[in-house]
This record gives sequence, structure tokens and C-alpha cells, in this order.
Amino acid sequence: MSLVLRASIQDEIARARGITDRLMAQVLPEALYDRSIPERHRLVFYLGHLDAFDWNIVGRGVLGLGPLSEELDSLFAFGIDPPQGELPKDKASDWPNPFVIRRYVTQVRNNLDRLMRQIPETPLRMILEHRLMHAETLIYLIHNLPYSRRLTRMRGIESDGSSPPEQFLRRQSLIVCDRFWKCRKCLHRVLANWRIGLFYDRDPPQSMNPGAAKES
Ligand SMILES: [Fe+2]
Repeated sequence: MSLVLRASIQDEIARARGITDRLMAQVLPEALYDRSIPERHRLVFYLGHLDAFDWNIVGRGVLGLGPLSEELDSLFAFGIDPPQGELPKDKASDWPNPFVIRRYVTQVRNNLDRLMRQIPETPLRMILEHRLMHAETLIYLIHNLPYSRRLTRMRGIESDGSSPPEQFLRRQSLIVCDRFWKCRKCLHRVLANWRIGLFYDRDPPQSMNPGAAKES
């Protein structure tokens, strides 16, 4: 792999880490253990999963290194499986605290960054794609958190906490459809324009903002 290509993939990985870090930074610390969609993991799983995947695939699999933490490599590989045919039943107390997880994430990144030159192109692309795929997961999981559980300018707005009522999201020039995580065009627009706190808020309900022009 040429040095230019390697540098560009490394840049993309750094950028993707920035995207997922900023997404997680929108979740209040006390909401990290929330499960905003009953069928999915608690948010805290994704805090460790992205880097555990990188370490398991590249550090252990490709480079043949040992575990960074047997417990965390394994816990964050797949999470805690629910009983067959049932929704997840794990408790918040089943998960490590965020300081432990963040320390693990830092260890993974430091180790991989140090060894980046030894990693072939395909696994690099694999971990990049996996992270971007989960950026999408995080967007819709956080989208389903009540405003009161996020760092957002909308924290004072009442909502039922499950699915906010407005049909469209709008922030500055960024307009996306309500199911943007299934729409590649919107998703790319979101990722390309991502800046913390600048787009993820919904417009206030009409009752609180009667003069607002309706998007169509
Ligand atoms: Fe994954």
C-alpha cells in the first residue's frame, strides 16, 4: 500500500473516531446506561464496542497480539446476549463505569496508532467501515433519547421521550428527512456537516415556535 493511500485511510479513521466521539459526547453521563430502543444494547456498549472491535480484529487477529483486557475485549465484542427470543435483560450494573471504558479505548487507540504501519489495507478499511456503520447506529439511538438525557439546546422542551413529534430535523442549512439513518443521501450530509450541538436538535414544536416556517 502506498504511503499516500495509508495516510489517507489513517486520516479517515481519525475523522471517524472524531465523529463517534462527538456523538457519544452528546449523551449525558447519567444517560450512558440508558437503552433508548428496547431491542438494542445500552448506549454504554457502543462506548467500548467500536475500539474493542478494532483491537479484536486488528490487534489480536491481524497483528497477533494478546488481549488488552480479556474481560473488556470479550464484553465489548458482542455485549450481553439476551435469553433466546427475548429482549435484552442486562442491568446497568452489569457494565463497567465510563472511566474504565475510556481508559481501555485510549489504550486501544495508542497501541493501534503506534503499529499502524504494520496493518494491511483491508483490515484498516474494515475497521473504518465498522465505525462509520456504528456512527449511523449511534445517530438513531441518540435520536430516541429524550432531550433531557442529551447535551442539547432543547433540554427544556417537553417530549414523551420515545419519538419526538416533528417530522423534520433542521439546523442551519442542514435539512434531513425523519428516517435519515436509512437514507444514504441524508446520512452522508449529516456526517459531512457534523459539528457538535449544531444539527442534532429538532425544531421546537409549532406550539412553542408559532412563527416558524414549515419545511416541505
Ligand atoms: Fe459492531
